[in-house]
Amino acid sequence: MSRAVVTWIAGPVLHATKQGPFALRESVRVGPQSLLGEVVRIHGEQIVVQVYEDTTGLRPGTEVHGDGQPLAIRVGPGLLGHIFDGLLRPLSGTDSAWVQPGMRSASSELLHFQPRIQPGALLAPGAVIGQAQAAAGRAQLCLAPPDVSGIVDSVVAPGDYTDTATVCVVRQGDGRLRELAMSHAWPVRTPRPVLRRVPSTAPLVTGQRIIDSLFPVAQGGKAAIPGGFGTGKTVLLESLAKGCNADVIVYLGCGERGNEMAGVLDEFPTLTDPRTGRPLMERTVIIANTSNMPVAAREASIYCAITVAEYFRDQGLHVALMADSTSRWAEALREVSGRFGELPGEGGYPAYLSGRLADFYERAALAETLGGGTGSVTVMGAISPPSGDFSEPVTSHTKRYVRAFWALDVKRAQARFYPAIHPLQSYAEDAREFAPWWTAQGNGQWLALRQRFLTLLDEQAQLERMARIIGKDAMPARQQLTLLCADLLNEAFLRQSAFSEIDRVCSPARQGAMMRLLGRFIDLAQAAQAAGVEPERISALACLRPLQRMGEEIADHELPRFAELQARMEREFAQLTPNQEARDATHG
Ligand SMILES: Nc1ncnc2c1ncn2[C@@H]1O[C@H](COP(=O)(O)OP(=O)(O)OP(=O)(O)O)[C@@H](O)[C@H]1O
Ligand SMILES: [Mg+2]
Repeated sequence: MSRAVVTWIAGPVLHATKQGPFALRESVRVGPQSLLGEVVRIHGEQIVVQVYEDTTGLRPGTEVHGDGQPLAIRVGPGLLGHIFDGLLRPLSGTDSAWVQPGMRSASSELLHFQPRIQPGALLAPGAVIGQAQAAAGRAQLCLAPPDVSGIVDSVVAPGDYTDTATVCVVRQGDGRLRELAMSHAWPVRTPRPVLRRVPSTAPLVTGQRIIDSLFPVAQGGKAAIPGGFGTGKTVLLESLAKGCNADVIVYLGCGERGNEMAGVLDEFPTLTDPRTGRPLMERTVIIANTSNMPVAAREASIYCAITVAEYFRDQGLHVALMADSTSRWAEALREVSGRFGELPGEGGYPAYLSGRLADFYERAALAETLGGGTGSVTVMGAISPPSGDFSEPVTSHTKRYVRAFWALDVKRAQARFYPAIHPLQSYAEDAREFAPWWTAQGNGQWLALRQRFLTLLDEQAQLERMARIIGKDAMPARQQLTLLCADLLNEAFLRQSAFSEIDRVCSPARQGAMMRLLGRFIDLAQAAQAAGVEPERISALACLRPLQRMGEEIADHELPRFAELQARMEREFAQLTPNQEARDATHG
């Protein structure tokens, strides 16, 4: 093991003189407390180390020891249902709520292991070696690490083991034996390999109407949620975590205030999964690096989180990763880079900000796994641009790598219109690809309705500008009607409270029913207007109120009520134009 001696310390960065070889990105231990760090630069006899824990009290002369391998975490069946710090050390299940300095991630929890292979069998990378079952929670597959293959030499009998205990021994191609446990170490900055990436034809169903119906993200896709202070990023990410159709949720609280994270930590363990009725935590891993935790660890936390997500993907599961917020991560990068004495770029961020963001978002994918299954990692990252300015570096660079952009609008949030996603500033580049998926869900008109809604919202923005100048009443009847329809669309469809029992999650079937009903309303309104009915009479229709409130009032399991509402709407429109009907009748 290589050794070095500390000569200079500034916060989380230190310089040390080498007394042996070190590799770039090698993980190291510093001082008597064995603080975890990483070699980030080597020049001549000096190494520069980024330390992931509090360096208070460290002195020059302290020793640094190399681990001989890059920064790695242990991934295994013990992860689900638990809360970890930014370096994947357990925050739950330990006696103290805080990680002790120098602690390594290891859980003493016993898991029941059921082998699925026999001695003599060929073990390929990513193949199943057995199944693990924790006291609570569902069974998980234990896979051979991606870098192991060979002939199985021995396997333990079914029984209870810790996730680091050897359960299988493999003779590798070079004749050497390798011991495998239920968990294994993986370097966080290296993407876990897959057989191949496959294009996604299905969206991640989030249960949020404005997302699923207007700005969908692919299963295995990537989305950004930029939004100024208090615009609803955290509430939206939490709603997505609770309501989306992923098998596993990895929730990363990165540099957010402790009390905000406390909300997540308190609430999640009490929630049930609407799909299974089981506790939501059973399919969740929470990684928390709050603003009071060491800043350098924040930089690493994002890689830990995506490595965990990839680990579950490799089991053939669909994983959703929520990161709140990538701006705090970028600020950590900036702070540490400043300590290295690097030349700051745009906004004070290091020049490699863009590359790092790309590395992170590129790890989202739908893929065929080494084990032969199909799994995905969908990444959704919140961005907190200072003063809500979307042209700042983190937002603008992220925009280049994500396919869906859900821009939260300060004005909407101030009007308490939630989710405050602005329909004109947001986009989804893959939306067209999902039309067949929606057709298979029984909503063949989805693409056409989506386009129609987006056009209507666009017209609304233009007309509102005009209305401010000349007044709404002076506008032609047709334009007044456009505004009426757009208002209804906003109120009835885009608005969705995260706190409503009925409406916080909206099934694709209900979204489809609501879309068709609104499309029909617009048709009838336009026909009535063409027949000479004034806009005031349309806006006075009694069915408008139940239409506006249908999201709150008609639950996922009450879809026939939409047909009733439609029948009522048709009747009321028919009464607006009795003469027209009479004429149609005589002509017909
Ligand atoms: N979808 C929603 N439904 C109902 N209320 C919401 C919704 N989203 C946000 N809110 C309200 O707005 C408040 C602020 O939201 P939130 O904490 O998510 O903002 P944020 O963007 O994460 O803020 P910060 O910039 O401080 O991190 C919430 O406490 C809640 O009252
Ligand atoms: Mg927040």
